Amino acid sequence: MFGSEIEKILITEEEIKEKCKELGAELTKAYASDADKLMVVGLLKGSVPFMAELMKYIELPLQMDFMDVSSYEGTESSGDIRIIKDLDCSVKGLDILLVEDIVDTGRTLSVVKQMLYNKGAQRVKIVSLLDKPDRRVVDIEADYVGFTIPNEFVVGYGLDYNQKYRNLPYIGILKPEIYE
Ligand code: IMP
Repeated sequence: MFGSEIEKILITEEEIKEKCKELGAELTKAYASDADKLMVVGLLKGSVPFMAELMKYIELPLQMDFMDVSSYEGTESSGDIRIIKDLDCSVKGLDILLVEDIVDTGRTLSVVKQMLYNKGAQRVKIVSLLDKPDRRVVDIEADYVGFTIPNEFVVGYGLDYNQKYRNLPYIGILKPEIYE
């Protein structure tokens, strides 16, 4: 049965929905004064379910775009990042809200944030569904965080293991035998 590979559910679908409502209300207030400049940028593919849910509660006429980046080496991000899919739109002068599934070492976000500034963004803020602060190696924090989690490898709600489990509607920890 799908989901039977999960040892423990860490965050339920209901909890995620509730959090998206809260974050959406907070973001609506934060960006209301200059909403025309707001562009929400999702990092593919992990941000997709979170971004889709969160955007419903940002009650502003925002623009959206996606970027896909990858580390050159290994499975853990190295900070040496190449763009697989660049933005379709110019970000010049725009207020960017970067959407990520998880901040782990922080390498990816720190590079992408700088890339967006280099492209002329006026301001770049980060919203992440999850934060794993124990793993941080780069000094970067998300401006808005859904849930802070311990140092465990999680899947679901956009997060994958070998490209699978992104479609689980909750955040869970895989059974160890799946890795073995
Ligand atoms: P960072 O550059 O190390 O912060 O990398 C963040 C990326 O690593 C995320 O966008 C995820 O794709 C991936 N990642 C980090 N931790 C996990 C996890 O627990 N499960 C699944 N993917 C993860």
